[in-house]
Parts: sequence; C-alpha cells; structure tokens
Amino acid sequence: MLTSPLRLGVNIDHVATVRNARGGHHPDPIRAALTAVEAGADGITAHLREDRRHIRDADIAALMEALTVPLNFEMAATDEMVGIATRLRPHAACLVPEKREERTTEGGLDIVGTRDHLAPRIAALSAAGIRVSLFVEPEEAVMDMARRLEAPVVELHTGSYCEAVSEGDAARTAHELSRIVRATEYGAGLGLEIHAGHGLALDSVAPVARLPQVAELNIGHALIGEAIFVGLARAVSDMRAAMAAARA
Ligand code: PXP
Repeated sequence: MLTSPLRLGVNIDHVATVRNARGGHHPDPIRAALTAVEAGADGITAHLREDRRHIRDADIAALMEALTVPLNFEMAATDEMVGIATRLRPHAACLVPEKREERTTEGGLDIVGTRDHLAPRIAALSAAGIRVSLFVEPEEAVMDMARRLEAPVVELHTGSYCEAVSEGDAARTAHELSRIVRATEYGAGLGLEIHAGHGLALDSVAPVARLPQVAELNIGHALIGEAIFVGLARAVSDMRAAMAAARA
C-alpha cells in the first residue's frame, strides 16, 4: 500500500476571532498564515461563516493574493458560498455543516440526507476547478455516499476521538479511533483522498497521523491556542515534528 505524504493545513480562523474582539486589524490573519507557512504549513484553511464571526470576505480575497500554498476554503453548501468560491477559485473547498448557534463545527455533514442539495453544488465547485472535500463522520456508508457524489476528498471529523482523549477515557478513545481507522481504510479503498481534522492537538495527533492513507490534517484551535505560549511558528513546527515522528 502506498503511504501518502502527510500535509498540514493550518486553520487561522481564531486569529480573526481575536482581531474581531477589538475591531481593527490586529492580529492580522494573513500575517499569521504567512508565519505558519514559513514554519512548515503546507496549506492554509479558513472558514467563511454565514455570520462572518471570524474570517471575513476581505480576508479570503487577501489570502488568495498573498498565499503561495493552497487555500482550503471551508464553507457551508449555500448558494452564497458557492458563488464566492466559484468567483475566487481557491485550490480547495471543504463543505461543512453550519448552524448559527454552534460554537464550532459540531458534527460531520449529513451527506446521505442532503445529497440532492449537495450534488449540484459539488458539481458547480468541481466545474470551477476547485477540489471539493466533504467534512463527514468516519462511517463506511458515508464514504460510499461521498464516492457517489463524486467528491474526490473526504475530511474525517476527529472531534469525538479528540474529546475522548482529552477526557482520558481510554475505552472511548479506542472506539473512536477504530471508527477513524475503518473509515480511512474503506474510503481510501474506494479511491477517496482522506483528510482528517477537528480538535487535533499534540496529545491526540499521532494515532491519526500514523495512518498511511491520511494525506492531510487540518488543525486550528490547538495551534492558535498554543501560539499564545510559544509563538505560532513554534506551535506549527512542534505539530509538524509530532506528525513526522508518528509517520517515521
Ligand atoms: N476541519 C474542519 C472541517 C473544521 O471545521 C475545523 C474547525 O474549524 C477544523 C478542521 C479544525 O478544527 P480545530 O480548530 O479544532 O483544530
């Protein structure tokens, strides 16, 4: 079996959260993105939410201008977002569920229940040359549906696994990890590119990074939080080192 090189996508949403707390321009998410890239990020992820609570339209346009690495544009599957994506044409679009009242993206996209809504939007993004990924729960039936929807990539939601790790619940950690392993192997067998993300931190990244079929991890909160203590460049390079050690 081929082992994919493992990429790190750094999610910079929470740099914008801090900026917006005061208005103004500081801290600048674009500067954070460039710092992350210099420290070893292979790509930058940013989520333009309907309520613009962190990243704003101007941030996405500025990232498109400034970045020399791929931008992974996280978005809800709405006509507004499809319009923005097909106009700006980022390298990738990751379709996520979005609820106004949630603090973060709480679960994977229900791609079985919403397939009729998703199919034309996936087709429109793909036709614009954007690589579509679907942020989904690690389940085999969901992998089958991603394939049917002709999305080339799935990003497996690692939130439940990371929650179990941080609660120190060994049995639940093992159970959640086994769901990720099964979905990864099954999805890769169907020809899907496998990404993973949500909640990953230094204490949870290794077992996911070790899976040879996983091609990309998208990590935000832990890196931006750790940056307060060690700086963003060091937080990114420590994460890269943990990913490399897990793969070695
Ligand atoms: N991947 C997706 C699709 C997400 O929605 C998020 C959170 O914005 C992440 C990865 C990163 O999660 P975290 O900020 O917990 O690392």
